[in-house]
Amino acid sequence: MVFLDTAMLCLRIDGRTTQMRPDKMRILVTGGAGYIGSVTSELLVKAGYEVIVLDNLSQGHRAAVPAQAAFIHGDLADTQLLERVFAEHRPDAIMHFASHTLVGESMEKPFLYLGANVFNGINLLRVALEHGTKRFILSSTANLFGDPARVPIDEAVPISPGSPYGESKFMLERVLHWLECTHGLRYASLRYFNAAGATAERGEDHRPETHLIPIVLSVALGKRDSVTIYGCDYPTPDGTCIRDYIHVADLARAHILALEALERGSRVYNLGNGRGFSVKQVIETARKVTGHPIPVVVGPRRPGDPPVLVASSEKIRQELGWQPEYPDLETIISSAWEWHRKHPNGYSD
Ligand SMILES: NC(=O)c1ccc[n+]([C@@H]2O[C@H](COP(=O)([O-])OP(=O)(O)OC[C@H]3O[C@@H](n4cnc5c(N)ncnc54)[C@H](O)[C@@H]3O)[C@@H](O)[C@H]2O)c1
Repeated sequence: MVFLDTAMLCLRIDGRTTQMRPDKMRILVTGGAGYIGSVTSELLVKAGYEVIVLDNLSQGHRAAVPAQAAFIHGDLADTQLLERVFAEHRPDAIMHFASHTLVGESMEKPFLYLGANVFNGINLLRVALEHGTKRFILSSTANLFGDPARVPIDEAVPISPGSPYGESKFMLERVLHWLECTHGLRYASLRYFNAAGATAERGEDHRPETHLIPIVLSVALGKRDSVTIYGCDYPTPDGTCIRDYIHVADLARAHILALEALERGSRVYNLGNGRGFSVKQVIETARKVTGHPIPVVVGPRRPGDPPVLVASSEKIRQELGWQPEYPDLETIISSAWEWHRKHPNGYSD
C-alpha cells in the first residue's frame, strides 16, 4: 500500500515512512534493467525520485524497468550518447550498476573486466563531472577481499581481489578516491555480498544464471534435473561453502540511504546480511519452501572459491541506521520462489 501525504512530503510504502524529495532529484541508473538496478529503480521511484535508466540490455530486460522511469537503450562506451544523456536529463546523481559481473568469466576474459568495466566507469565519470554531476554510487563487491584474512569481513580487512572482476571494482574505487581529491566528487562504494530474493514485481533473471538460489529454484520448477554442489570437503560444519545472502530490496534501500548521506561525505560500506548460510542450508531451505526434493550432484571444488564469505555491515548500521528487513534465509528464498513461480521464463513472460 502506498500513501502520499503531500503536505508533509512523506511517502508511506507498506507502513514505512520515507522522506520525499521536494525537488524531485534526478538519478541516472546505469544497468537499471538488470537485477539489482531494476529493484533499486523501483524503490527510487516509490520514494519520489525521478529515475533515468541507461542499459544496453546485454543482460537486462526492458520489462524490468519501472514504467515511471525514462529508459535509454545504449552502451556506456558510447561517449556521444552519454553527452546527450547528461545534457538532456541533467542527473543530480548516478547509481552505477552496469558492468560485466562474472568472476569465472573474468578469469577467461580479463580484458573485458580490467578493460571495459574500468573504461566504461571512467568514461561515465568524466562526462558526469564535465556536466557538474558530482554524486556517484558504485556497485562494488565482496570479491575485493578474495580469500579474506578474517571473517566477518569489515571494511578494514585487507583488500586482495579474488579475480580480474574484483580488481576492476577496486580500480574504480581508486578512481573515485582520486576524483574526490581532484574534482570534489562525493561517492559511496557499496560492496555487496550475495544479492538474492525478489520484490513482488522484480526478480533475478541472468542468462546464463550462475547464482545459487535461482539455480536451485529452477530445479524446483522442473527446468533443471539437479543442482551441482561444488565441493563438500571445505572446512565448514557441513563441508560446503558458506555465503552471506542479502535481500535485493535491503540492498536497494542501502543505496537510497547512501545517496542521502553523500551530503555529509563520501563513504565505503560492506553490505551483507551478517549471517552465513552453507550451500546445503540453501538447498534444504529451498526444499522446504518449494516442497520439491531438489536432487543434488556433488562436483569438484571451483578454483578460487573461499570456504566462508560473510560481511560485517556494522559500519553502515552505525552510520546510516541501515538494517536488513529480510535477514532470514527462508524469507529471502520465499520471495524469490514467488517471483519465479509467477515468471517461470523470467522476463520472457
Ligand atoms: N548480483 C550480485 O550478487 C552482485 C554481488 C556483488 C556485486 N554486484 C554488482 O552489482 C551490479 C549489478 O549486478 P546484477 O546482478 O544486477 O547484474 P545484471 O547483469 O543483472 O545487471 C547489470 C546490467 O548492466 C547492463 N550493462 C552491462 N554492461 C553495460 C554497458 N556497457 N552499457 C550499458 N549497460 C550495460 C546489463 O544489460 C544489465 O542490465 C554489478 O555491477 C555487479 O558487479 C552484484
